[in-house]
Amino acid sequence: MTSTEDFYMKRALQIAKLGEGKVAPNPLVGSVIVHPRHGIIGEGFHGFFGGPHAEVNAISNVKNQDWLSESTIYVNLEPCCHFGKTPPCADLIIDRKIPNVVICNLDPHPLVAGRGIQKLESAGVHVVYGVLESEGQALNKKFFISQKKKRPFITLKWAQTRDGFVARTDGSSKWISGPQSRQWVHKMRSQHQAIFAGNNTLRIDNPELNVRDWKGPAPVRVVIDPNLKLTPELKIFSSKESEIWIFNSIRNETVLNKNYLLLDPGNDFIGQVLKVLWEKGIHSLFVEGGSQMLNHFIEKEIWDEAMVFTGPMEFGSGLKAPEIKNGILSEVKQIENDFLSCWHSSANE
Ligand SMILES: NC(=O)c1ccc[n+]([C@@H]2O[C@H](COP(=O)([O-])OP(=O)(O)OC[C@H]3O[C@@H](n4cnc5c(N)ncnc54)[C@H](OP(=O)(O)O)[C@@H]3O)[C@@H](O)[C@H]2O)c1
Repeated sequence: MTSTEDFYMKRALQIAKLGEGKVAPNPLVGSVIVHPRHGIIGEGFHGFFGGPHAEVNAISNVKNQDWLSESTIYVNLEPCCHFGKTPPCADLIIDRKIPNVVICNLDPHPLVAGRGIQKLESAGVHVVYGVLESEGQALNKKFFISQKKKRPFITLKWAQTRDGFVARTDGSSKWISGPQSRQWVHKMRSQHQAIFAGNNTLRIDNPELNVRDWKGPAPVRVVIDPNLKLTPELKIFSSKESEIWIFNSIRNETVLNKNYLLLDPGNDFIGQVLKVLWEKGIHSLFVEGGSQMLNHFIEKEIWDEAMVFTGPMEFGSGLKAPEIKNGILSEVKQIENDFLSCWHSSANE
């Protein structure tokens, strides 16, 4: 049977999702305020990056503010206790005399991490936490994993033939998966803050790496081009709808949507790129091949999820698909004639 706490926390998690695509790198947060006689008297969610937090929206949606002093506020992330882009939510809860707070997950942010709860309890507020904890963790996996690893959450994606190839060697094999799978890929792109592909893929496939078949935000496109050898005619440079970050060893400037960022030529490029992305607030990255690039992430164990589409074709020979190591297969879905295998890294268990 669902407890009252689970019931209202489920609702908070449900409305948290309304912020999808708009709040990254912040987590998705929803809040519900429940009065013992009047039921739900206010709801709110974090709707855009830098905007008011879920608790602030839920509190301001309560018509009769006097009811707050008899109510319970449910929120799926520990209320903040520091001045960030907005004032501390713990202070607001105390100020409005809300006597009970129910929380799903603690905030791993070093400026919060249990201090929000401490502040509430020291002011006499009754706090319960850990309600539907694993559901909350799953909802905000990109946030929790990137905060823990101090690098973007990394999703690898490729399409392979039934006999395990990602391309023919002559470059003639453009589509391995069907149109519906490709729409899934556009949805996945829109759920990440940045997209990245290896240079051979950019030269041979000439992808735009944008979001065309799904409605959602267009992620930053990331390229590593140490000597600026990639030709400007490539579609990734000509399509203007999102920023392109070009990591290189020559230029450090921004020209229209092109952001040139310097790399230290002697050092591990991918490691440097991930560090800069993290520091600049890019906390999720979608890696779209090719084999060399994907194998690099797999070998170094710097990945969190892998989405592998297997189409019905067989090539007989070609460029071998990467092989997942230290991964756990969580789901296989059929999409038209393709199968999508969803893996997650065993390092995150
Ligand atoms: N089926 C699919 O899902 C799929 C997806 C994407 C691509 N593909 C196919 O895969 C083929 C390309 O794959 P690929 O394995 O040949 O090449 P790739 O992974 O696309 O690119 C390899 C290139 O990326 C750069 N690179 C690789 N590791 C690096 C590192 N650690 N640091 C910095 N740069 C690094 C190097 O570029 P430089 O040489 O410029 O230094 C390297 O030559 C194409 O035929 C494409 O059609 C298939």
